[in-house]
Amino acid sequence: MKEPVIIFNDVSKSYPLYHHLTGGIKNFLFHLPRGINSLKNSRFEALRDISFEVCRGETFGIIGRNGAGKSTTLGLIAGVLKPSKGRVIVKGRISPLLELGAGFHHELTGKENIMLNGVLMGLTRAEVSRKMNEIIEFSELRDFVDQPIRTYSSGMLARLGFSIVAHLEPEILLIDEILAVGDMGFQKKCIDKMMGFKKSGVTMVFVSHSMEDIGRICDRVMWIENHTARMLGEPKAVIAGYTGNSQ
Ligand SMILES: Nc1ncnc2c1ncn2[C@@H]1O[C@H](COP(=O)(O)OP(=O)(O)OP(=O)(O)O)[C@@H](O)[C@H]1O
Ligand SMILES: [Mg+2]
Repeated sequence: MKEPVIIFNDVSKSYPLYHHLTGGIKNFLFHLPRGINSLKNSRFEALRDISFEVCRGETFGIIGRNGAGKSTTLGLIAGVLKPSKGRVIVKGRISPLLELGAGFHHELTGKENIMLNGVLMGLTRAEVSRKMNEIIEFSELRDFVDQPIRTYSSGMLARLGFSIVAHLEPEILLIDEILAVGDMGFQKKCIDKMMGFKKSGVTMVFVSHSMEDIGRICDRVMWIENHTARMLGEPKAVIAGYTGNSQ
């Protein structure tokens, strides 16, 4: 039996619901205790009672419609979100979710962001410096790495994000849609890199709307529908379930 390195035990994540005072402010003030209670108690459940395990070396895919809860799941694994209920256990070093914008500083240059994220991931400055060229080479952003990244396009940011996490010896790699904004050439490079990671036993959680990529790379896939796990298992069957349901 392989060792589980990511464990979700009945995990729910809810957010406070922002809504208008439908009865008007006067009505709200008049029935103040009830009004406050209804504001306090109305929460939106982005994820409900999700349980799964990802084993060391496994490539685990997450699919589902927009707003289903895929990025929320990655945020919980990365520890940037805390579950409202249940437990998330992660054993190993998680690569930061750079493609979501977290961990990037917009006024810093590409190079400075590489250094910053390398150091945040626990490498020394010397170690990051040694990898700097390889990262820039892979990203193909040589002409832009001295510019602040607020000037980058979304595809360029995705290139930088993937190049950083892919070259800092990841143990658990979380990839959210990164391939969607990259051009064809870069998408192919990312997939090749991920195939290499798979061979060398890196654990990966991969969120994508490309069923082709999911089918090609993943060992198992979870389909999230209506904020809960609808199906989990062998990629072919889960993809068929999801695509059949979306038509
Ligand atoms: N900070 C937040 N506050 C309130 N609601 C949120 C917050 N973050 C996410 N949500 C809600 O949680 C739900 C799940 O969002 P999530 O980003 O996980 O979806 P997703 O599956 O990644 O979708 P997509 O395919 O569009 O990326 C959505 O309905 C979203 O509106
Ligand atoms: Mg998302």
